[in-house]
Amino acid sequence: MNNDIVSPIRSLQVEALSVHIYTTADQAALAASHQAQKILQATLAEQEEANVVFATGRSQITCLQHLSDPTQSSLDWSRINGFHLDEYLGIAADHPASFRQYLRTHLTNKVSIRRFYEIDGDGLLPIEICQQYEQILRSRSLDLCFLGIGANGHLAFNDPDVANFDDAAWVKIVRLDETNRQQQLSSTAFATLSAVPQYAFTLTLSAIRAVRHSLCIAFGEGKADIIKTMLTAVVTPHCPASILRQVPRATLLIDQSAASLLPDEFSE
Ligand code: GLP
Repeated sequence: MNNDIVSPIRSLQVEALSVHIYTTADQAALAASHQAQKILQATLAEQEEANVVFATGRSQITCLQHLSDPTQSSLDWSRINGFHLDEYLGIAADHPASFRQYLRTHLTNKVSIRRFYEIDGDGLLPIEICQQYEQILRSRSLDLCFLGIGANGHLAFNDPDVANFDDAAWVKIVRLDETNRQQQLSSTAFATLSAVPQYAFTLTLSAIRAVRHSLCIAFGEGKADIIKTMLTAVVTPHCPASILRQVPRATLLIDQSAASLLPDEFSE
């Protein structure tokens, strides 16, 4: 892991969204971890605790490695509460693909976080779980949200068919579309497509929009198409991530491969 902070090769503004393009994925992840520390240190200078929503997926691993390494990060985790962005429905916490397992491995087993509010993905009363999680989220200031982007443009598990920019709910259960389930198969510990759950809990786009700062990370050629759509086509729930262009204090950090299909005016 190279720990040298490198400047982006290009920074631009797409409406409200700040976009930074780095040569490599590792550079973008390191930059995300630095930006997160700055945001959280400023927050903790003004309030006793900070509340952070954590994403999962390949895009988050290096950033979480930096954040949880005491030689890299000076965060006072005893003043930070963590929340899930999403979780599969009906999967036990110790399932290798569960997001609880992911965040235990990459975060909460490594730092002394004040409290991490897990979504009880295989709890008996999923509707009540949504309502309770929403109540907790609404009762506090949400300071920072980490995000990745799905191959179909989803944020969290808001796939195009269920994405609603003005959702009345903050937490809901959704059915995952086939592109999404394929992505879960190729990037997580599910052995077969039929093992990938059909349904999941997700923070809605209203909840994501309510967070004060967002840091969205995406890497690799596989994301190039959706990054192009997200940044150059109309803002629409058909590409849920396009909403970030209208979210104040949102930042997108990508590598050169993910930026490779952007039109020329993005590289001038
Ligand atoms: C999953 C998660 C999303 C995440 C996405 C990004 O689908 N449900 O919350 O944003 O992965 O994937 P990756 O980080 O592998 O690019």
